[in-house]
Amino acid sequence: MMKDLEREKIIQYFNYNISLEHSAIIQYLFHAYTVGEAETENELEEIAREEMRHLRMFAHKVVELGGDPAISERAAVFLHAPTLEDLMQLNIDAEIMAINEYSNQLKDISDESAKRILNRVINDETAHSKIFQKMKENLRSMIKDSSSQKEQERIQIAQLLNEILQRQYKKILEELYQSFITRFKNPHLSDELEQKAIDKMKHFGWIAEELSEKGYEIDVSLPSVEKVKEEKSIINYNQSEEQKSQEEFLSLSQKAENPDLRWILERIAKREIHYTDLKKFLDNNNLSEKDYSKIISAFTVGSLFKRGS
Ligand SMILES: [Fe+2]
Ligand SMILES: [Fe+2]
Repeated sequence: MMKDLEREKIIQYFNYNISLEHSAIIQYLFHAYTVGEAETENELEEIAREEMRHLRMFAHKVVELGGDPAISERAAVFLHAPTLEDLMQLNIDAEIMAINEYSNQLKDISDESAKRILNRVINDETAHSKIFQKMKENLRSMIKDSSSQKEQERIQIAQLLNEILQRQYKKILEELYQSFITRFKNPHLSDELEQKAIDKMKHFGWIAEELSEKGYEIDVSLPSVEKVKEEKSIINYNQSEEQKSQEEFLSLSQKAENPDLRWILERIAKREIHYTDLKKFLDNNNLSEKDYSKIISAFTVGSLFKRGS
């Protein structure tokens, strides 16, 4: 039979162990709920279940030895950490602390049945500390991957928006130039070009706003401006430019995965569409000067812009 002294010692040790297992269960479950990653969450819950088994083994032994299991006691729990890696380190620390404690107890008792329990639990805790170590490494690489991916996406979006911004900037300057140059030769065309420049200014504003809201640098370096002076050339030039940018915007918006970016590209692309109807006229190579004047008239005061002369 076990000596009273030995029995009291084991009851005391195992009740302390119950409080350690208790705190481990709470800590791991809490972490499982806060970690926000399904695989890690499941693993944490599985480990918490094993700690429940440990608690049960210790409690059964305490009762068997005539003691009162210390179910209302709990050791310290560490619930919060600045990062998920730090959180996993808290669990590694908890396992190492338990392994040390149970190993010391093992040396201090002689009851074989109690020693078997301790050996079994030490074995589990050693496995747990390794699992936590792995989780820590996985979470670290996960964080790295997602942050570098996000950063790359951010840079891509900023570059794309700045390219579009620069394009709008260039068009504003060119159309204002064309508007100024045709001011007296063709006041209607001049007005229309000015309206188009104002449109581009709106686009410029949307894009700049988007860039600034997202904390991107806005590229307002001066674009190269093509000075087109002659009426027919202005029409041709703007026609082909608008066709180009509309196609570009549509294809960009289809490729854009960022919803804000897609929205802004689609919005600009749709505004370019009404200019492209003129393409049909201009594709006809046999246009006379009279036809051109008709086109100019349509371009400036006709139905395309829903404006009366
Ligand atoms: Fe345990
Ligand atoms: Fe454990």
